[in-house]
Amino acid sequence: MPAVVPTGVDLPFASLAAEIAIEAGALVRGFYNSAVATEYKGEVDLVTEADRASERLMVELLHRHFPTHGIYGEEGTRDRIDNEYRWYIDPLDGTTNFAHRYPVFCVSMGLEHRPAGLAPDEDGPILAGVIYDPTRDELFVAEKGSGAYLNGRRIHVSTTDDLGESLLATGFPSRKRHDNPNIHFYQEITLRSHGVRRAGSAALDLAYTACGRFDGYWEFNLNPWDTSAGVLLVTEAGGSVTRFDGSPFQLNSKELLATNRLLHAPLMSLFDDMFAGRNLEPILTPAEFAARRLAKAGG
Ligand code: IPD
Ligand code: CA
Ligand code: CA
Repeated sequence: MPAVVPTGVDLPFASLAAEIAIEAGALVRGFYNSAVATEYKGEVDLVTEADRASERLMVELLHRHFPTHGIYGEEGTRDRIDNEYRWYIDPLDGTTNFAHRYPVFCVSMGLEHRPAGLAPDEDGPILAGVIYDPTRDELFVAEKGSGAYLNGRRIHVSTTDDLGESLLATGFPSRKRHDNPNIHFYQEITLRSHGVRRAGSAALDLAYTACGRFDGYWEFNLNPWDTSAGVLLVTEAGGSVTRFDGSPFQLNSKELLATNRLLHAPLMSLFDDMFAGRNLEPILTPAEFAARRLAKAGG
């Protein structure tokens, strides 16, 4: 089924955004099929000409379709951000994959409504979210109150209610990895589930949670351009998105837990245990493993 916008439902923002995401995705795919130079924008944070060209195109198309809307882009666009509507755009989510020719990346765009009177640090509702994967031609679309869709078909979160039978996802920041405890969460949850994928695109991780490929997803330190679209997809598909302690997720939250709803309480309780250092699964250290191997060889 090719990437199509759902028909028969009113998607005033998402349907136009979908056209923009498909165009930007095609541009990114073109760069992927040719050689693109990679640069560092921080110590280990990569950026390519594809990221910048895609953001330029998205800004141009957003201006054309939504001339009064603000735009907040990962590659630096800060355009009319005091206006009532604000798009968060990630012109290429999964840049590290893209740069290494690992075909898991997408374009993501989410629309926040910021009516007059909203405090600067207060979130408005997310009205629309679109994520487009140009390598699989998969278009994920959601509009507040109108559901979530993949290539025109309604999607729902999974019905898995047992953590031991779940497939989950997480990700790791490209910067300051030593300041991030997620490797411990990755280990613990890997031991208790069918597995944890870390495919390198937060937006796709959320989209896959929305359509039931993943039963849940968590990550530390994301930005609104990574999360705005995917969070709406998950909630419109029947899932839950909060911080790790169950408090409401906000676009500037530094923790995000998204699940099919059924696994929310078990994962929150596990996170609670993790932060308290309780009930952790034992695992062999490499040194213990090596000693055992040596003992077996000797015996
Ligand atoms: C990154 C990806 C990755 C996540 C990182 C993000 P980028 O976005 O979404 O999965 O783990 O935290 O920064 O830099 O490829 O747009
Ligand atoms: Ca991103
Ligand atoms: Ca990006």
